[in-house]
Amino acid sequence: MSIQVKKRVDYRAPVFTITDVNMDVRLHPTQTRVSSTIEVKRNGEHDLPLTLDGDHLTLVSLTINDTPHTDYQETPGQLVVNQVPDTFSLTIVTHIDPQHNQALEGLYLSGGTYCTQCEAEGFRRITYYLDRPDVLARFQVTLHGDKDTYPTLLANGNPIARGNNDDGTHWVTWQDPHPKPAYLFALVAGDFDLLEDTFTTMSGKQVKLELYVDKGKQDKGHFALAALKRAMLWDEQTFGLEYDLDIYMIVAVDFFNMGAMENKGLNIFNSKFVLASQDSATDEDFFNVEAVIAHEYFHNWTGNRVTCRDWFQLSLKEGLTVFRDQQFSADMTSPLSNRIKHVRVMREHQFAEDASAMSHPIRPEEVIEMNNFYTVTVYDKGAEVIRMFHTILGEQTFRAGMDEYIKRHDGQAVTCDDFIAAMQSVTDIDLSHFALWYSQSGTPVIEVTTQYDADKGLMDITLSQHTPKTADQNDKVSLYIPVAFDCIDSQGQHYQDDDGQISNGMLMLDTAAKTLHFSNVSEPLIPVILGNFSAPVKVDNELNASQLLAVFKYAHDNFNRWDALQSLYSWCIVQYEKNTENNVDNQIWQGLEQVITTEADNHELLGECLVIPSFETLCQTRKLVDVGALNRAREAFCKAFADNLQQPLQTLFDKLPVNPYQYSQQAVNARRCRNVVLGHLARTADAQGLIEQQFANADNMTDSLGALKAAQISAGPLFDKLMTQFEERWNQDPLVLDKWFGLHATTERDDILSQLTLLQQHPRFAMGNPNRVRAVVGSFAFFNTAGFHRTDGSGYQFVTDYLLELDAVNPQVAARIVTPLTQWQNYAPQYQNLMKTQLQRLMNHGKLSGDLYEKVSKSLA
Ligand code: PHE
Ligand code: ZN
Repeated sequence: MSIQVKKRVDYRAPVFTITDVNMDVRLHPTQTRVSSTIEVKRNGEHDLPLTLDGDHLTLVSLTINDTPHTDYQETPGQLVVNQVPDTFSLTIVTHIDPQHNQALEGLYLSGGTYCTQCEAEGFRRITYYLDRPDVLARFQVTLHGDKDTYPTLLANGNPIARGNNDDGTHWVTWQDPHPKPAYLFALVAGDFDLLEDTFTTMSGKQVKLELYVDKGKQDKGHFALAALKRAMLWDEQTFGLEYDLDIYMIVAVDFFNMGAMENKGLNIFNSKFVLASQDSATDEDFFNVEAVIAHEYFHNWTGNRVTCRDWFQLSLKEGLTVFRDQQFSADMTSPLSNRIKHVRVMREHQFAEDASAMSHPIRPEEVIEMNNFYTVTVYDKGAEVIRMFHTILGEQTFRAGMDEYIKRHDGQAVTCDDFIAAMQSVTDIDLSHFALWYSQSGTPVIEVTTQYDADKGLMDITLSQHTPKTADQNDKVSLYIPVAFDCIDSQGQHYQDDDGQISNGMLMLDTAAKTLHFSNVSEPLIPVILGNFSAPVKVDNELNASQLLAVFKYAHDNFNRWDALQSLYSWCIVQYEKNTENNVDNQIWQGLEQVITTEADNHELLGECLVIPSFETLCQTRKLVDVGALNRAREAFCKAFADNLQQPLQTLFDKLPVNPYQYSQQAVNARRCRNVVLGHLARTADAQGLIEQQFANADNMTDSLGALKAAQISAGPLFDKLMTQFEERWNQDPLVLDKWFGLHATTERDDILSQLTLLQQHPRFAMGNPNRVRAVVGSFAFFNTAGFHRTDGSGYQFVTDYLLELDAVNPQVAARIVTPLTQWQNYAPQYQNLMKTQLQRLMNHGKLSGDLYEKVSKSLA
């Protein structure tokens, strides 16, 4: 293994380019033959050899302009072809082995289906090539496969010819008119159920829509197909972007490392983000299907038509496309719950990443294994940065900037700086300071301090920012931060600052600190900061319980209202940690009771506001967390919450409607609220009946799962009984079975490790299936707080043992699951030491993949 660090600043343009590719692929489980003819051109004046990337390939032959060429060397990962002309045709024949490809990069078999995954650097496992995103070529592909086993043969673009071979195989030729980088290449061969539809674009072109799913699963594809049409329409209406081929295909496969892939005209999806039906998918699953379908579709412009120059620019396409899918989801469902959902991801996962050894800016500076940089920072913080552009420029100017970006760069491979320049070209606001969000890592903290002069009736509110140093950067500068700002008093009056520094509810915090002055005030004002989460920062705003309840009551921004209660819960949990829980007094319970009764009909808001912050979120507001103590304090507060509010919660529960299933926003909100309340009631004495009743009567997966999760809290005989019934019913449905595996793996119980061993021996567990591995080992490591952080270190050891095996099979998935271990900095020393012991064990192993090596070595550095 050669570990090589690549740096952003070392980018060099390619010394050769490829204009056209013509591939002929004869599918075979262990010896697929790939013949690839590429038209190569020397780039500039030089006499360097042509160096192609290649991995896990067996070279069969090489010709230049149809003449055998022998002057080449194969080195690990590369093929160096010497003595090449300036312009030539190079034909390379290789053999590959899809059946034994368990890393699921390049060409592999998923169940019985051939499919490919080429982003980021998987195309080099199919043929020797300039496998980098700034080489754009036109592709033509002919696939040959057995007619009966693989009636469907797909690749990017349009089918232009088909026929039969003498040996019982058939073939299809596909042509993609749009030049593209190799990472967008795809092919599929299999036997599917097909759902078809059409979409007429805004200029009147008919596009064929085709969705391919496993035989027998056709009924579960309708929602995804309808979601695709909504996404196509939305992108026309919102960004004026129209689809550009005659056919758009989506294929669902069960074995996939990530969510889905935006291959040109031929998306390949983890079936989890395609298949959905009322009885087997939760409301959240439906939401995710729609969001991921849209995300991949939106990539057609932001990613495919305009692509990345190099992989350091990944956020150029991912941050932007996540922002676009978030806006779409908000329009399709509801802005508030969307915003809260995404803020939870930031606070639970992105802040943790920034506080760990893997901290990196949204545009990373150095990378060992690119697969490790498909992160919450690049994706979700990247989207937050785009959102700030949108906030600062305003909707219309943002749209003008997008138009300009596409106009300038259609058909090109560009950088984040090109995006910023396009945005700059449509505004007078100087964006150079703002652009530091691309290069500075870490989570800024905004500290709020106040000074009240009762005699003069004056109040000063100072906002100051600092970004703590991160593993990758010591020195931090002040950023340009749009801070939504509101100011109220205890009676709900809103106040304007004297100098008008606040405009349209925003303070642009572009220096280390700014002070706002208020006059004619008769009591200390309450600053309400960061409405709608206007920037990806932490806020240190020490409000007391009654002020937080006032914010809930009077703030205009619903995100602020929700956030105030989150802060209140977090404050209460601190009291339990410090054994001062008497501070959580009746006034607070009464305040919360009022929240429940006054908002009883606002199911959306209550469904969010009654959720206690997760352990992971709480960790991000604490240092050197004593896991056991925090987990116990959180649980004690949850129990007190249920006991003190049992009556209003029960009343609310009884009033919440149970109607025949419908996936509509109103129904989703009501179900969500009901299940959140059920989760609280589960901690009270007489909840068993409610849970059992809901489980028995549920006509949809959301309510079944809600009942199971409620039963999971006490992890008693009821949970075991319901889980057994659930398994019997769903044994044949892999996606539902993943939920069952996940529930077991996240249950807090003393014998959890032997439970996990049993799960791994389950006939339906398979190390080669990423969804299943994530459901068991991933959920345990990420979300079973008590089990993973057992004080004897056995939870860490369990995960490490597993990773050592998994790494040899699927490094990408292993490197993802190691994440919680690498975030040891957040915990108290006794935990840190145990975690580092296991990381050291991984390090000592000596045969780690580059993926795992990068994360483990950084975390021990
Ligand atoms: N580009 C894909 C997306 O964001 C994610 C992905 C990356 C899938 C790498 C597979 C491999 O939609
Ligand atoms: Zn994406």
